Amino acid sequence: MISVSAPGKCYIIGEHAVVYGHPAIIAAVGKRCYVTADKYDNVKINSREIGEREFSIEELKIFALELRNKWNECNEKKDFSPLFSLLKQDSFNNVKAVVGEAMNVMGINDGCSIEIKSDIPIGSGLGSSSALAVATAGALNELYDKKLTREEINNIAFRAEQYAHGTPSGGDNTTCCYGGLVWFQKAQPKNIIIPLNYDKLEGFVFAYTKKPEKTTGELVQLVRNYDENERNKRMNEIGNMTKEMKEVLKNKDYKKMKAIINRTNDILTSFGLSIEETDKIYNAIREIDGSAKMCGACYGGVMLTWHEQPEKLIETIDRLGFTPFQTDLGVEGLRNER
Ligand code: MEV
Repeated sequence: MISVSAPGKCYIIGEHAVVYGHPAIIAAVGKRCYVTADKYDNVKINSREIGEREFSIEELKIFALELRNKWNECNEKKDFSPLFSLLKQDSFNNVKAVVGEAMNVMGINDGCSIEIKSDIPIGSGLGSSSALAVATAGALNELYDKKLTREEINNIAFRAEQYAHGTPSGGDNTTCCYGGLVWFQKAQPKNIIIPLNYDKLEGFVFAYTKKPEKTTGELVQLVRNYDENERNKRMNEIGNMTKEMKEVLKNKDYKKMKAIINRTNDILTSFGLSIEETDKIYNAIREIDGSAKMCGACYGGVMLTWHEQPEKLIETIDRLGFTPFQTDLGVEGLRNER
């Protein structure tokens, strides 16, 4: 039996803009997805969230191939809704996709049992699906002793992310796989991935609002449907602020950092990505001279907030009736647990 884990992630800046080729700064967060795997006849998947079910090896491998074909079709039409409705049909489909994909890539023809335990709230902007994809691919690599590189594991997780979200940037799975604080930019032939070895980020508090009513894929599509010129202008502004943020974080220029975080939230809001709850938190945190932004695909989930006195954030978030929590930023990526 083997056990591995991968952390969730949080965009310090750059979500959505990263889809259009701008850089992003992303931190691995101290909430993890744990996957335990063992040899078994069929493929047995067990998770606290979705329960337990068995599948044949063949069924999973064929399912992953079907998803690849569907993804190609959707990509040609630039409309991923048929893929999303296929995945939504069954709560096991996301896990089936990553297991099938990993089995195809690794050439696995033996069964396994997979147990998933995750601390990462689902669909909250904290990378629950990426962490699951990375940890599952990592677990199968260990179980079958395939000796895949971290890059190869990351590629499998990226494919699973494509099935779940259509055209993800790859920033989420990369951060969950490598860990730390990551400068990420989509590029050809290879993405730019630079570890930012800064002092530990301090003073951030998360606020959990509620599970977004739209998926990441749908929210990326919502931004894509926006007027192209206007979208490019605003995404360029986020891209420029990300470049500034690199220095700001290094130099701990908190005044500038707060201004950038708030402006980022304003731009994300201008695309229709905020909800009443996130607006409420944003306005209250600004009133106490702090900063707050939505995270990941936005539209609920968690907000990242910062203040010189973090206790003021906790007090404000609590007062509004939401759940504040603190967790380490820049933690270790995919790792063996035993
Ligand atoms: C989602 O966590 C981040 C987005 O930028 C999508 C992506 O990068 O794939 C919204």
